[in-house]
Amino acid sequence: MNALAPGQSVSGDATGMSHFVVPGAIDTSHGPILYLENISVSFDGFRALHDLSLSIQTGELRCIIGPNGAGKTTMMDVVTGKTRPDAGVAFLGQTLDLTRLDEPAIAQAGVGRKFQKPTVFEQHTVWENLELASAGDKRWFAALRAALTGEVRRRIEEVLSLTHLEAQAASQAGQLSHGQKQRLEIGMLLMQQPQLLLLDEPAAGMTDEETAQLATLLDKLRGHCSMMVVEHDMAFVAALAGDAGRVTVMAEGRVLAEGTLDAVQRDERVIESYLGR
Ligand SMILES: Nc1ncnc2c1ncn2[C@@H]1O[C@H](COP(=O)(O)OP(=O)(O)OP(=O)(O)O)[C@@H](O)[C@H]1O
Ligand SMILES: [Mg+2]
Repeated sequence: MNALAPGQSVSGDATGMSHFVVPGAIDTSHGPILYLENISVSFDGFRALHDLSLSIQTGELRCIIGPNGAGKTTMMDVVTGKTRPDAGVAFLGQTLDLTRLDEPAIAQAGVGRKFQKPTVFEQHTVWENLELASAGDKRWFAALRAALTGEVRRRIEEVLSLTHLEAQAASQAGQLSHGQKQRLEIGMLLMQQPQLLLLDEPAAGMTDEETAQLATLLDKLRGHCSMMVVEHDMAFVAALAGDAGRVTVMAEGRVLAEGTLDAVQRDERVIESYLGR
């Protein structure tokens, strides 16, 4: 009945033509890169996520805001496979069921995650950090000795330019400023060519100038990958969302409001639960 390998599927696209989907790859032919429906997560009876439904369109940069404890980080934990939801549906593209994949498989499929604290190899140069990141888990020390392929070299140069770290390429990562380290870590994630990048409070601890540089970097990444950015810094959110970008407000484990930043800022429930405090 089904001649396809497990995990493989055939689906029609807008032209009505069928196409094969490579197992393990994200199929975004029908819109969302991420689809969450009625996700619930409990910790010892406490509901951190409560029927959370949220979807991100392919190519979108979605900002998520909300008070402390709203469940923003827990939601990212569900997407990356760190936390299993008790209930709900979670799909990456059309075919990848996140509730059935483990963390390495989800990362492998193209989900990159930036944690708050930068984790760069301090003793290595910026260039070497990017080189190591391109090797992934594949015996990274061997990667340093191996001859660089033209393709990897080209990507390192592209990432150096995107992250505006060209001048620091030969500097030790340990010598970088906090903002530069954060950009380097994003660059390391980019070496893996993620399709969905999750950033949890990336501007935390940054100076205004560093925050502006980070906004410029994320703006340049539009078109390279879809992004979900959790952030408390409203000036930063405003810079990323612009007039038309969608902003999701979470509170008490669910989506409280969604719309342009202007619209959610005028939403009574949002003012009451978050912004007006
Ligand atoms: N592993 C865990 N065990 C128990 N409770 C947890 C765990 N992880 C999160 N929680 C609780 O779940 C709720 C949601 O936490 P979460 O970290 O997702 O919120 P957040 O929106 O990211 O908040 P913040 O803005 O402070 O980062 C909080 O009340 C938190 O204490
Ligand atoms: Mg958090």
